[in-house]
Amino acid sequence: MRFQALMLTIARIRLASSCGLKWRLASSYTSSGTWPSRTSVTASVSASTARSRSLAPLPRQAPPPRDQPAARPVLSTRGAAMAGAAWIGDERWQDHPHAFQLGMPDIEQFPWRLWARALGQRVRPGLAALPGERDPAGYLPLRAAIAAHLGMARGVRCTPEQVVVVAGAQAGFDLASRLLLDPGDPVWFEDPGYLGARAALLGAGARPLPVPVDGGGLDVDTGQRLQPTARAVYVTPSHQFPLGVTMSVHRRLALPAWARRAGAFVLEDDYDSEFRYVGQPPPALQGLDDSGRVIYLGTFSKVLFPALRVGYLVVPPDLVGAFSAACRFTGAQVPLLEQAALADFMTTGDFGRHVRRMRALYAQRGAALVRAIRLQAGDLLEVRSAHAGLHLVGWLPPGVDDRAAAERAAAAGIEAHPLSGFAMEPVRRGALLLGYAPIGEAEIADGARELAGALRRLRR
Ligand SMILES: Cc1ncc(COP(=O)(O)O)c(C=O)c1O
Repeated sequence: MRFQALMLTIARIRLASSCGLKWRLASSYTSSGTWPSRTSVTASVSASTARSRSLAPLPRQAPPPRDQPAARPVLSTRGAAMAGAAWIGDERWQDHPHAFQLGMPDIEQFPWRLWARALGQRVRPGLAALPGERDPAGYLPLRAAIAAHLGMARGVRCTPEQVVVVAGAQAGFDLASRLLLDPGDPVWFEDPGYLGARAALLGAGARPLPVPVDGGGLDVDTGQRLQPTARAVYVTPSHQFPLGVTMSVHRRLALPAWARRAGAFVLEDDYDSEFRYVGQPPPALQGLDDSGRVIYLGTFSKVLFPALRVGYLVVPPDLVGAFSAACRFTGAQVPLLEQAALADFMTTGDFGRHVRRMRALYAQRGAALVRAIRLQAGDLLEVRSAHAGLHLVGWLPPGVDDRAAAERAAAAGIEAHPLSGFAMEPVRRGALLLGYAPIGEAEIADGARELAGALRRLRR
């Protein structure tokens, strides 16, 4: 019994200190993207130990013998940086679709029956019936289907072997960062930019450096001035996340040219280019590059559904072996059943039909949101037309704090992420990011009314 009581006390202390550590790490991330120091991590461990005492009294302990090593931080510096990185997660938001959920497609519109059929057709004969060796870079027919789709839709030039299937673009950021970067390597990073990519770079020990984004995308000249010898650059050239701008032709040429000169890699994140409502999306940088410096990343999270956890990289021919080998030793691989079913889903045309249907639907919803905001909140939020993607940027009047506005919106039950939450440097003008894809036009109109009411209360 005494032994059980002791074990229970130890378990409580462990739980308390792990909770305390997590809290401290989350709050110790600095907006400039720097790491929490080891000292702050150590301090947080001792603070949490102190807190654990109030939960369960520690038995009196003899001081550790002199020859015992000093207490060390629990997490590595890289681990602490990754665990403490900023993220948009917030338990206030339930999973069901609501206004204005960011980055989510409408999963109720997904053809689940067709997907179940694709899975079933692969399960029935048994996976042993799948041909070929288990390549860690993915199931070759799926890689071929992705290469064909990217060639046609995005101007990507690659063989099926250059496509590496991974568990979402996030796994791709992680793999590319660890394979190509050493701890301390500077990386140009779009500011504002995608938090998931930034966290993966931090997890690899790299140093994301904020490079401003303007109407023409990432400012390549400023990047060259700030850090001409950076090891890599992370960009979303087709539809910048979160501002939604398209990179100018001049910069699309200048960026790979700089990468060639500097011996750097371009990490091109093409996360939502299937959803372009006006004209054609500009071709991917990968197709313009002859020097083998571009690593192209894509995902099925927006175009199908995020829980599928399938993404891909297109890597230069001389890196195929390294990426493929490294996949074996990471958790990046996708189960074969889903890969085979997805290959069938693409080659039968179900994928293309779904994309076309959703493109038309999201175009209508984007237009509905622009109309509703202009009608309900034209004096409070400035929105430009939704020409691509799944969200809009609503610019607040100059001087209005977007975090305070987001809090007000949240209190009214509306999800509206502040632009400054994605920025490393202070933003010049605050804005709210408004997702429109997962909800119908009536909910969009209701949401705009609620949001307008919340923002008016902020002004009083
Ligand atoms: C800019 C950007 N890149 C990539 C992703 C996709 O990540 P994943 O494939 O890991 O779901 C997202 C998802 O929200 C995103 O917003």
